[in-house]
Amino acid sequence: MGTVICINNNKGGSLKTTTATNLAGVLATEKKKVLIIDADNQSNVALTFGFNPDNDFEQGLYNVLLEETDPKEVIVKAHDYIDILPANDDLVGFDFGVIGDRDQYPEPFTIMKKTCAKLKNEYDYIFIDTPPSLSLMVGNAFTFADEVLIPYNPESYSMRSLIKVLQTIEDFKEQYNPDLNLLGVFATMVNYQTTLHQEVMQETRRYAIENGVKMFDTYIPSTIRFASSVAYDNLPATLGKNIQKANVYFELWKEINEDE
Ligand SMILES: Nc1ncnc2c1ncn2[C@@H]1O[C@H](COP(=O)(O)OP(=O)(O)O)[C@@H](O)[C@H]1O
Ligand SMILES: [Mg+2]
Repeated sequence: MGTVICINNNKGGSLKTTTATNLAGVLATEKKKVLIIDADNQSNVALTFGFNPDNDFEQGLYNVLLEETDPKEVIVKAHDYIDILPANDDLVGFDFGVIGDRDQYPEPFTIMKKTCAKLKNEYDYIFIDTPPSLSLMVGNAFTFADEVLIPYNPESYSMRSLIKVLQTIEDFKEQYNPDLNLLGVFATMVNYQTTLHQEVMQETRRYAIENGVKMFDTYIPSTIRFASSVAYDNLPATLGKNIQKANVYFELWKEINEDE
């Protein structure tokens, strides 16, 4: 049975998609079979692998969740060991479709788990890339997931929003998925010379220790070259030509597993 890992933060630009695709790349180099479910209608997972989401897919996650389409009909191969279940534009209508029809969806958080459960038999790891929100879609991801990993950007105000995310996950566990395991949080887009980043990271570490949350030592430095590598290779950096740049994701994966 594969492990389902949800990457979540309610802020955009915190490197959710970059983390999901690069960790998938790390696992692919270990010859693990990986699926990435793109639960964000921005379709950035597909873009990372060089697809054109406007033309390349006839169906997407929406059809799986609400139209009983078999996920296997929707999944596409992105790399030797990586498949993706693409997002489609229709996903913007997911919340309204479900909330507007409580008779059909009495348990609105369980739709992904019910429609995608059998995929756990097909893959070693399933990553769920989430939209920057705490929405119905994210509730579905938290219900299907075994583990959740939180990237966060140590800017001013980000502590408050990080605390909110962590509290929401705690509440969610209690109410809906007691088996959900919070792997931890790690800082992204860090400029270590920036005093603010150092301060916010220290503050986060204190909060994490007090609240029994793991904060990883590995952090993702902010680099322009990293950001552009995707554009040139049409692959996440961990599978790209210049793999040294992506070492930090190999280190992160190692640290995640040291702890278990
Ligand atoms: N290490 C990095 N330093 C600077 N920018 C990065 C880095 N890694 C990725 N980026 C860029 O940052 C932007 C936001 O990242 P993304 O993963 O899409 O965030 P999210 O999915 O949380 O919205 C993207 O344009 C991405 O290419
Ligand atoms: Mg994203």
